[in-house]
Amino acid sequence: MDQAEHLLHAAQDEVAAGIDALFDRLLAVPADPRARLYEAMRHAAIAGGKRLRPLLVRAAGDLFHVDRTIGLRVGAAVEAMHVYSLIHDDLPCMDDDDMRRGKPTVHRAYDESTAVLAGDSLHALAFEWLCDPATHGDPFVRAELCCELARAAGPTGMAGGQMMDLVAETADFDLPTVTRLQQLKTGALIGFSVEAGAILARIPAEGRRPLRGYARDIGLAFQIADDILDVEGDEALAGKALHKDDAAGKATFVTLMGLDRAREQARLLVDQAIAHLAGFGDEAALLRAIARYVVERDH
Ligand code: IPE
Ligand code: IPE
Ligand code: MG
Ligand code: MG
Ligand code: MG
Repeated sequence: MDQAEHLLHAAQDEVAAGIDALFDRLLAVPADPRARLYEAMRHAAIAGGKRLRPLLVRAAGDLFHVDRTIGLRVGAAVEAMHVYSLIHDDLPCMDDDDMRRGKPTVHRAYDESTAVLAGDSLHALAFEWLCDPATHGDPFVRAELCCELARAAGPTGMAGGQMMDLVAETADFDLPTVTRLQQLKTGALIGFSVEAGAILARIPAEGRRPLRGYARDIGLAFQIADDILDVEGDEALAGKALHKDDAAGKATFVTLMGLDRAREQARLLVDQAIAHLAGFGDEAALLRAIARYVVERDH
């Protein structure tokens, strides 16, 4: 294992443990009839996933010496938003999936109504945690975090991308349209995660430009990798059903470009993402390692 991989694994383990501990505390089960709702949220949120978005908050925060405990809280908020999107994405009315992160999906382990409410609750909790003064002493910073997360999750971000993804089953999308779909569906929350590090450090818009370029490129590379893994990944490693895009007749980067060109495009995007960080030194080593991991991952 080289130095960059070591750095990545150490940070990933630390962030994963920190997120699990935070969720365990923030999602404590109450002794009343809402217990089932909390148990369903815990089922989906604790001990699972790559925790890529909290890892990005940490890596971007590290550039500006952001307190890591604070970065972890923001990481928990964006991960809660992501987990909500997965719970709803798996519902019978959406992708109708039985497995997620190696476990039964929430509507399988509980029921559909509970899954809808667990998603709703995680969506709301993300904002509640960001609004809490424990996240940042400056109310302007908290407002900006909330505003940017709302933009990344709503119709101008993830939910808008999910709509385009459903339309993709029956429409004939070209490459620019699929690129936009993926930028909204996956790229927006990844973009928020990176930007959050700069918001916490009160870096002005001008200073965030390289980070935005980095996030755009790794977001697309990440989704190309997801599309490639959907075709040739291992379901046991992925912990979810694969080969779903083709079955649904969806245009993806792979159906439009073919596997070889998609792979090449992902590699180019990673190089481009790393080039955006040229103005930073060793403090950006984790961001560079994440960029490589995004396309080299096996799940
Ligand atoms: C899966 O996201 C859904 C997409 C946005 C492609 P991840 O691949 O980050 O899923 P987890 O968090 O590791 O489970
Ligand atoms: C889901 O995309 C992305 C979001 C939940 C925003 P996919 O449907 O491709 O994700 P998987 O393949 O089920 O993880
Ligand atoms: Mg989907
Ligand atoms: Mg899905
Ligand atoms: Mg997919």
